[in-house]
Amino acid sequence: MYIQILGSAAGGGFPQWNCNCPNCRGVRDGSLRAQPRTQSSIALSDDGVNWVLCNASPDIRAQLQGFAPMQPGRALRDTGIRAIILLDSQIDHTTGLLSLREGCPHDVWCTDMVHQDLTTGFPLFNMLEHWNGGLRWNRIELEGSFTIPACPNLRFTPLPLRSAAPPYSPHRFDPHPGDNIGLIVEDLRTGGRLFYAPGLGKVDTALLAKMAEADCLLVDGTLWEDDEMQRRGVGTRTGREMGHLAQNGPGGMLEVLDQLTSPRKVLIHINNTNPILDEDSPERAEVERRGVEVAWDGMSIEL
Ligand code: MLT
Ligand code: MN
Ligand code: ZN
Repeated sequence: MYIQILGSAAGGGFPQWNCNCPNCRGVRDGSLRAQPRTQSSIALSDDGVNWVLCNASPDIRAQLQGFAPMQPGRALRDTGIRAIILLDSQIDHTTGLLSLREGCPHDVWCTDMVHQDLTTGFPLFNMLEHWNGGLRWNRIELEGSFTIPACPNLRFTPLPLRSAAPPYSPHRFDPHPGDNIGLIVEDLRTGGRLFYAPGLGKVDTALLAKMAEADCLLVDGTLWEDDEMQRRGVGTRTGREMGHLAQNGPGGMLEVLDQLTSPRKVLIHINNTNPILDEDSPERAEVERRGVEVAWDGMSIEL
């Protein structure tokens, strides 16, 4: 299985356009040793030719331009994207669909809950109907696994995760299973197994057991501290409230990952306030000391 990190930042990207926090200012003026990052998205393939896009970020145009297999050039109009999976209905994971309108119809896999949000509060499915039929919905059932014809050697298993639906969701204050999922992706030929969860608020023992079986974990790296947004003066909500388990502290993501010895561990969906983005920070050194990598745009992983 080929895994391509198209965007490794959380919503807003890095630097965020309107932000002058020490990280955003530092990467913008070059005083910080850090790499800019686009918003959360990865692409998966079993052959390196046919790709499944996981989440469609607002930065998709630049992301596709930066990864050659996305334009194979076999016809006047062409793309390497054969299907799209949405893990939630958040803006940073869905608005890229608008930029893909020229290539409609697209096959989109998502849960009932995500489809409900995207046909009501944020009606992308309805809007895009006007472009050559728009988005063809393939329902992700929360039980069992599914396959996608374009990548027949990959088996996808959804993991319902606890988190809040977005502000425009009709069930914003009434969380349902399927608002946010993670994915286990197995390559049926190589046996390689990926655990992907860019929004992961809580890890219980059942989930930890699933993580232990993976060869590679691509997990929520949004925040270093649960109250980081408040500390940096850029927001009021905690990581817990947003469905993101912070890395530091008791029960934090680093402690969770410490319990797992065999998988490769990679943090993704990193918020621009997170000190691990600064490659000279003590927090970044701590992450690396614990054998955890920080995803970057353009990173490739093969399983
Ligand atoms: C999240 O991951 O919590 C959301 O994408 C936040 C946002 O960008 O609004
Ligand atoms: Mn997000
Ligand atoms: Zn910032």
